[in-house]
Amino acid sequence: MSDSDDLKKQAALAALDHVEPGMKLGIGTGSTAAFFVQGLGERVRGGLDIIGVPTSERTAKLATAEGIRLTTLDETPHLDLTIDGADELDPSLRLIKGGGGALLREKIVASSSDRMIVIADGSKLVDQLGAFPLPIEVNHFGLGATLIAIEAAARQLDQPVTLKRRLASDGTAFVTDGGHAIIDASFGLIREPEAMNLALAAIPGVVEHGLFIGIATAAVIARPDGVIWLHA
Ligand code: A5P
Repeated sequence: MSDSDDLKKQAALAALDHVEPGMKLGIGTGSTAAFFVQGLGERVRGGLDIIGVPTSERTAKLATAEGIRLTTLDETPHLDLTIDGADELDPSLRLIKGGGGALLREKIVASSSDRMIVIADGSKLVDQLGAFPLPIEVNHFGLGATLIAIEAAARQLDQPVTLKRRLASDGTAFVTDGGHAIIDASFGLIREPEAMNLALAAIPGVVEHGLFIGIATAAVIARPDGVIWLHA
């Protein structure tokens, strides 16, 4: 296992200690969340009784293979705890998510939970968000107009931006679980994440964007010198 995978696993296992019998869990997506799913599977096979809502089709498959009982937000609209990775987080627990394209379901699930613990290796913790391009999930209808509106929003906030349509590994356009496209927006550093959050959310063609503000309640960060916790 690579050093970075080892740190991701350490973070995932530290968060697992906060899972209690009877909990209704939101289950994240990505390589760090996959370690959490594996660890959770082991505990479930050892008798832990929990139920989970997966944040992507990929996670649903992994969790099912691990024997984790799954539900939906229609059946179980209120969750106790969501555990998920992030592409970047700052010390105020503002996040960029969506590197894996699951940001819409991730935001719906985390927002339906009492608490969200972010699991990450130390490379994800930054002073200021934005080195990682911000994933923006957009409707196919009116895409050209939506791109112009995103550029205008960035201009208003005095942020230069480069927009790229995300492609899948086979070179075709990436399509989310919800059937939408992803635009990766490179702003450089995002000076005012709250203002950017509101400006992007106000664009009708934007289905959701990867800034998570005021959602995470704690983060566990695994670094070579040890594991640290941040709290909102
Ligand atoms: C999935 O859409 C993302 O939000 C992931 O949670 C995020 O990209 C972190 O993924 P890794 O754990 O693979 O870095």
